[in-house]
Amino acid sequence: MCGIIAYSGKGDAAILAFESLKKLEYRGYDSWGVAALLANGKKAFSVIKKVGKIGATNSEFVKQAIPEQNHMAIAHTRWATHGGVTEQNAHPHLDCRLTIAVVHNGIIENYQGIRNSLNTPGEAHEFKSQTDTEVIPHYIEHLMQKEGCDFLTAARKAAILIKGRSAFVALNSETGQMFAARKGAPLIVGIHENNSEEFFIASDLTAFLDHTNKVMYLDDNEGLSISNGKIDFFDIETGAPKQKRVVDIHWHGKANLEKEGYDHFLIKEIMEQKYTIAAAINQDDEKIQDVADAIKGAFGTFLVGCGTAGKVCMTGEYLFSKIAKKHVNSVVASEFSGYQHYLTPKTLVVAVSQSGETADVLEAIEIAKSKSAKIVSLLNVFGSTMMRVSDDFFITNAGAERAVVSTKATTAQLAVLSLLAYAAAGRLQEGKLLLMNAASSVNDMLNPRYEEHLKRLALILQDKKDIFIIGRGLNYPIALEAAIKLQETCNIHAQGFAGGELKHGPLALVGPDTPCIVLVANDDAKQDILNNASEVKARGGFIIGISPENDEVFDFWVKVPDAGNASPIVNIIPVQILAYNIALLLGRDPDYPRNLAKSVTVK
Ligand code: M6R
Repeated sequence: MCGIIAYSGKGDAAILAFESLKKLEYRGYDSWGVAALLANGKKAFSVIKKVGKIGATNSEFVKQAIPEQNHMAIAHTRWATHGGVTEQNAHPHLDCRLTIAVVHNGIIENYQGIRNSLNTPGEAHEFKSQTDTEVIPHYIEHLMQKEGCDFLTAARKAAILIKGRSAFVALNSETGQMFAARKGAPLIVGIHENNSEEFFIASDLTAFLDHTNKVMYLDDNEGLSISNGKIDFFDIETGAPKQKRVVDIHWHGKANLEKEGYDHFLIKEIMEQKYTIAAAINQDDEKIQDVADAIKGAFGTFLVGCGTAGKVCMTGEYLFSKIAKKHVNSVVASEFSGYQHYLTPKTLVVAVSQSGETADVLEAIEIAKSKSAKIVSLLNVFGSTMMRVSDDFFITNAGAERAVVSTKATTAQLAVLSLLAYAAAGRLQEGKLLLMNAASSVNDMLNPRYEEHLKRLALILQDKKDIFIIGRGLNYPIALEAAIKLQETCNIHAQGFAGGELKHGPLALVGPDTPCIVLVANDDAKQDILNNASEVKARGGFIIGISPENDEVFDFWVKVPDAGNASPIVNIIPVQILAYNIALLLGRDPDYPRNLAKSVTVK
């Protein structure tokens, strides 16, 4: 949450930072800002802050606002945690003398104490925002003014003082120095291919991939400084120098970061499922088998994720039960601490995350590691924090997912978990074949005629206040996932249920024309879920069947291929398309749902 970018080099820093920041918009889009250090001995900043999405502004605006030459800049796109969405609360934040500018991602848990300590009878700082971040520039100022620290020492001391998961970059207009610290939130450095004195520092490498593929990863509690074009890395606590390895990143197709002719990332990414499922199962068989064997042999396996990835974990629990006859536990990452009492060095935690940066999952991993449990991750972002803290990992190969609403990463995660379940049953090749067939069925599904059919359904559902989704077995977690898709994309109250649960309460909410989406597969739950659909219909409900075959209970039928145990993959796709089209009808922004951010780096 929140995206940071900093640039130092010979280029036009404000423009480079601004353009790179646009690539981080998915991390937060309440407001944005840039501070550029003016050149020619001016020793001053030019600052822009705006409420709203950065995507709505072009670089001409920045050129006009900061016409002067500048070679160092920091920029930020915000997802509000402390303080409302206002220009004052937008980053960068500055000290009283306007010589230190800071951008920050994460939360400073002890900010109130720091703020109080800075306002004593002998020293008063003027705070202009309600943010936690603003304590950083003022604290650095305090150390420089009152304790005689130089800028880099003061910034390092500030990094030591703040508590909570975060990362920040500070720029000093008087010395022309930059400081960055990573304390639990990602920070990656890019070095220009042909110029070893040109640097990008960002929350995510997609911000600067247009400029360089050469990156260095900061680890937790590491910092860096840039002075006179030279970069140095060090331990935040001790100040001891650190050596960093330069890694060449070639996995991330640059083209994948653009809309490529589509109106939105969301529909582009839905359509990319024509080939991402096949890419996801393109894993090393031996590694799949090794991890599947580890799951079988573990003294307790926990599948851990949040949101959509959490629903994938839940599906995994059913997949392992049904295919491998193996009990695994799925746990919502933010609730994982309640399970820590069961963890031993023989426990295996499988963390599922598109971004590999979700704070709740990282926290679960930390808990598991403290009990010496093993960690395997299923990730979409190579080089992410989770990849680096796990004992082993799989990359789900879906390519960059830019829409906040997860689609292609979800089906890729489902595919890899299915492979693991089949491997645990000693039937890996059978699982691969099943998934390859599902991938080719998805390819057939994703055609304009199919979308037209779902557009007709979108017209029917667009003005509904509530939508129910029901499923059983493998498709129960998918009903929950379908609800998330409709909630975030259309802002409609959608709720998923296990089909059998309706009669225990929720059926009381069903009235004339209440829409109920029924997820059906040709499996042993089929008759029961159709019976549950009849129960809803008998109370006036409007039944939408997502099913390989039509049934008399359906008022509207959406055909899906008969994919056997891959039914969760094919059944979620029409809901993704439906949600996109309802969002368009309602005038929502499908790529940037209100109140959300793609990478949830706060607890
Ligand atoms: O990056 P992660 O997979 O760890 O993200 C987890 C959730 O925040 C994410 O799935 C969220 O629920 C999506 N917005 C769903 O579309």
